[in-house]
Amino acid sequence: MMSEIISKTNIIHNFLIQHRNTWTDYNVPFEDGQELEKLILSNNSKNILEIGTSSGHSTIWLAKAAEKIGGKVITIEIDKGRFEKAKANFEKAGVSHLIEMKLGDAMQIIQTLNEVFDFVFSDATWSTQPAEGYTTFFKLCEPKIKIGGLYTMHNVIDGYGDDGRFFKYLEKLGTYKTSIINVSHNGISVSKKLK
Ligand SMILES: C[S@@+](CC[C@H](N)C(=O)[O-])C[C@H]1O[C@@H](n2cnc3c(N)ncnc32)[C@H](O)[C@@H]1O
Repeated sequence: MMSEIISKTNIIHNFLIQHRNTWTDYNVPFEDGQELEKLILSNNSKNILEIGTSSGHSTIWLAKAAEKIGGKVITIEIDKGRFEKAKANFEKAGVSHLIEMKLGDAMQIIQTLNEVFDFVFSDATWSTQPAEGYTTFFKLCEPKIKIGGLYTMHNVIDGYGDDGRFFKYLEKLGTYKTSIINVSHNGISVSKKLK
C-alpha cells in the first residue's frame, strides 16, 4: 500500500519536473507549487478547494499532496479551453482520480458545494470583478472552512492580485492569522482560521 503511494507520487513528480518550464496559462511557478504541497502536508489538509484551475499546474501540486495523505481536490475553472487542457494534463500526470473538476463561475459554484474544506487556494486572478473578487471568493468560502484550516491566495506581492481590500477585510474580521510566502515574485498568503 505504502509502496503503491510512493510509486504514484513518483509518476506525478516526474510529470511536474518534465513540464517545469512549459506552462503558459498564467500558472503558478514550480516553487509556489512546492510551497502549496508543503502547506497541505504540514497541516494535514485532506479536503482541498481551488478557485482557478487554468491548465492545471497548481492543481497537480495540490493533488500530489492529497495522494500522500488520502485527500482530494475540487477545482473550478470558468474557461472551457483551459478546463479541457487541465483535464488532459491530469490524465497525463496520473492525478485524475484525486480531482473533481467543475466548469463554470466560481462565484456561483462555491455556493453549491456541500463539502467542508481545510485548504483553499484562491487563484482566479482574471476574475470578472478584479477589485472585489478576492474578498467575495473568501466570503463565499469562509463558512465552509474548518477551524485550523488554511485559506491561501496567489499573486499577493506582484500586483496582479488583491488591491489590499481582502487583507483589510481579514484584519477587521480578526479570526485569521496571516503570513506571506515569498519564494517566487508572485507571493502566496496563508491565512489560518483560528476560531
Ligand atoms: C492565474 S490562472 C490560474 C492558474 C492555476 N491555478 C495554475 O497555477 O495552474 C486564473 C484562472 O482563473 C480563472 N477564473 C477567473 N475568474 C473565474 C471565476 N469567476 N470562476 C472560475 N474561474 C475563474 C481564469 O479563467 C484563469 O484560468
